[in-house]
Amino acid sequence: MQINENSENLNYTANPERYKSMTYKRTGKSGVLLPAISLGLWHNFGFVDDINNGRDILRTAFDLGIVHIDLANNYGPPPGSAEENFGTILKSDFKSHRDELFIASKAGYGMWDGPYGEWGSRKYLISSLDQSLKRMGLEYVDIFYHHRPDPNTPLEETMGALADIVRQGKALYVGISNYQPKETKKAAEILRQLNVPFILHQARYSMFDRWVEDGLLDTLDENGLSCIAFSPLAQGLITDRYLNGIPQNSRAGGESVFLNKNSVDSNIEKIQKLNEIAKNRSQKLSQMAISWILRQKQVASVLVGASSSEQLKDNVKALDNLSFSKEELIEIENIIA
Ligand SMILES: NC(=O)c1ccc[n+]([C@@H]2O[C@H](COP(=O)([O-])OP(=O)(O)OC[C@H]3O[C@@H](n4cnc5c(N)ncnc54)[C@H](OP(=O)(O)O)[C@@H]3O)[C@@H](O)[C@H]2O)c1
Repeated sequence: MQINENSENLNYTANPERYKSMTYKRTGKSGVLLPAISLGLWHNFGFVDDINNGRDILRTAFDLGIVHIDLANNYGPPPGSAEENFGTILKSDFKSHRDELFIASKAGYGMWDGPYGEWGSRKYLISSLDQSLKRMGLEYVDIFYHHRPDPNTPLEETMGALADIVRQGKALYVGISNYQPKETKKAAEILRQLNVPFILHQARYSMFDRWVEDGLLDTLDENGLSCIAFSPLAQGLITDRYLNGIPQNSRAGGESVFLNKNSVDSNIEKIQKLNEIAKNRSQKLSQMAISWILRQKQVASVLVGASSSEQLKDNVKALDNLSFSKEELIEIENIIA
């Protein structure tokens, strides 16, 4: 799908008020402030999707002060296409705003055939980032992550590649994703010795998946790092999307291997109960789910996905009510424990 050059919105002018309402949070002990809500392009930005909808979502994000955009080499489908579409939109709408944006990419999952197309070797990471930069039309990313731990490559090699990427000027900061607490501590030690600005761990965290509470958040604290929480809505489950069945145009209604009818059926009771608590707080369920994550001091940002700009606008309203009473927290705990 081509970008619509005849759109009446061809000339985008950013909202001059964009920095007034967003909350920005410090990342670890670094100088980087991230918006409390960031946008991820895992879904809805591939060649299979409508790029004009993606463009609308990105404009909405920027207008709301969401300056952190998260990508990875394999986002699409097909893999690489989200970076390419993002590059197209960056060029058409955000060229003059590059220094206002904090752009992430990652490598770790399967990207091309053969032994050098995935995991954590120096060979893979350095060539993958070169490809990502070309697709996005960028000289550097703001943060580059190792996307998943590699059990067969020495951590020293993977972290050494991240260090060299920073020294080459291809990334300003580095991060890791999906690493367990012990591996995280080791990675932090190596990167400290190499004097590399390691600031973020990207981890799945939602009311339905709380593994980070089991040691990771403490490890991050001890190492001066922050968490950026992905899939905070459990891919759309912790919203009002599935309260009355599975819409055809939803993620569970599509061909996702991660979210399907079973995921909805097995969680629907919890979703309904949580929705009642959200209503009593005068919030939507998605907003309560985001606020609930932001109560953790180690979380610098909640990384949401959106299939429309309306969803994103809704999600940002979470910031209007971030506090929970003890009773609310207990009620939520009783449902999700
Ligand atoms: N590091 C990693 O390994 C990793 C893994 C996964 C994701 N991530 C990152 O995290 C980002 C977010 O992940 P995610 O997309 O799974 O996050 P999510 O925020 O849990 O789910 C996003 C989906 O929820 C639905 N949704 C969002 N807001 C809604 C609202 N207000 N009302 C109703 N439904 C709403 C939409 O689904 P519909 O399509 O049904 O409308 C949307 O696509 C990704 O884009 C990626 O950048 C990283």
